[in-house]
Amino acid sequence: MAVAERLVVERASKTFGGGELTVFADLDLAVRDQESVCVLGPSGCGKTTLLRAMHGLVGLDEGRIVVDGSVVLRPRSNVAMVFQHFGLMPWKSVTANVAYGLELAGVARQEIAERVTRYVELVGLKGFERSYPHTLSGGMQQRVGLARALAMEPDILLMDEPFGSLDAQTREILQDELLSILQITGVRGGRAPATMVFITHSIEEAIALGDRIVVLSARPARIRETISVDIPRPRTVASVIAHPRFVELRDRCWRLLRERTA
Ligand SMILES: Nc1ncnc2c1ncn2[C@@H]1O[C@H](COP(=O)(O)OP(=O)(O)OP(=O)(O)O)[C@@H](O)[C@H]1O
Ligand SMILES: [Mg+2]
Repeated sequence: MAVAERLVVERASKTFGGGELTVFADLDLAVRDQESVCVLGPSGCGKTTLLRAMHGLVGLDEGRIVVDGSVVLRPRSNVAMVFQHFGLMPWKSVTANVAYGLELAGVARQEIAERVTRYVELVGLKGFERSYPHTLSGGMQQRVGLARALAMEPDILLMDEPFGSLDAQTREILQDELLSILQITGVRGGRAPATMVFITHSIEEAIALGDRIVVLSARPARIRETISVDIPRPRTVASVIAHPRFVELRDRCWRLLRERTA
C-alpha cells in the first residue's frame, strides 16, 4: 500500500450567514498516518471551523473531508478532539468527564475503569479523580480534556489550541508531556502513535510538535505554505529550541504570518 493518508481535506469551502462570510475556500490538505500536522493562522481565520469540520461537527458548503477512505459526516469513535476552551462538563467529576465518551461508545464498564485510571495518571491528575472542573486550575482542566481524548485511544487526535490559554510554564510542561505521550508505544493498546492535527497561534509550539506546519492566511483561509519540520524525534521543547534548524523555521513562519497583512 502507498503511504497511507488518514485524513484528507478536498477542495473544502465553508461559509456562514447564508454565504456572507467565507471562512475558507477551496482548501486541500492531506495528513498521513502517524503524522503530526500543526496549523498556524491568524485569529478568526477559520481554524476551529476547519477542525470541527474534520470531526464532523459542522458541514461544508463545498468539497469533502475523508477519514480512512470514507467521507466524514458525523463524529466517529476513532477520532478524538481536544477543545480550545476545555469543553468539560462542570457537573461531572474528573473521572466522569474522562469516562463519558467511553460510555457513549459502549465500552465495557471494567475497561472504562481501567482506562480512566491509566489516562488520568498519565496526564498527572492522580488524586484528583473526584474533583470537579471548577476546583481545578486551567492547566489541570486541560489535562482532563487531554485525558478524555487519549482515553478513547483514538487513531486521530484533533487539538484546537489546547494550551493556548495557559501560562508559558504550564504550557511548556504540557507540550513536553504530549510529546512524550505520543512517543510512548503502548499508549493506544499497543498500537502505533496517533495521527494528529494540532491548531496553534504559537510558532514555537508548531515547530516543537509538528512534522509539518501548515500556515494559513487571514480569512478566507488559504494555505500559504506547508513547511516540513526536519527536527528528529524524540523531541522535547528545549531540544527543539536548541536545534540549529529552529531559528530558520521560526523566521520562515514569522515571515509567512506577517506577509498576510502587508
Ligand atoms: N457558528 C457560527 N456561525 C457564524 N459564524 C461563525 C460560526 N462559527 C464561527 N464563525 C465565524 O467564522 C470565523 C472563523 O471562526 P473560527 O472560530 O473558525 O476561527 P479561528 O481561526 O479558530 O479563531 P481563533 O484563532 O480566535 O480561535 C469567525 O469570523 C467567526 O466569527
Ligand atoms: Mg479557534
